[in-house]
Amino acid sequence: MEKSRLLEKLNWFYSLEINQVDMYRRQSKKTKDPHLSRALNKFAEIEQSHVENICTTIERLGANPSFMWEVAGEISGALTGTLSSLPSRKDTLRFNIALETRAISDYKALIRQVGDEDIRETLWSNMIDEELHTSWMNAELMKMKGEGH
Ligand SMILES: [Fe+2]
Ligand SMILES: [Fe+2]
Repeated sequence: MEKSRLLEKLNWFYSLEINQVDMYRRQSKKTKDPHLSRALNKFAEIEQSHVENICTTIERLGANPSFMWEVAGEISGALTGTLSSLPSRKDTLRFNIALETRAISDYKALIRQVGDEDIRETLWSNMIDEELHTSWMNAELMKMKGEGH
């Protein structure tokens, strides 16, 4: 994979991860459920570690990370498209899962294209965290369903 193309991809993830930190933090503050609030805050911490490892990867390639505003636009566009001003817990979880699923498939695609072993390991590690977030939130949705929500 060409270096410029790889950097473009990495900057895309860098921007996505920054957005996710912000999104989970905001959701964590907003929710009244103490368990969900802490889980979302934990997700934010993990996404922050992704911001940092992607940042390090970009710098190791001799570049500076640059935030792609179109990624933020894409996410907030999807947000306003999916959610009302007061989204239900179910809608929030569904939206988060959709976003995580997108991240997982993009990480997977990049893993296939990258030759560098270290970079690939970072991508794998982040992708598995996203899978864990997705599993947790899916389990939460199932639990709600069981409770008749
Ligand atoms: Fe992440
Ligand atoms: Fe995640």
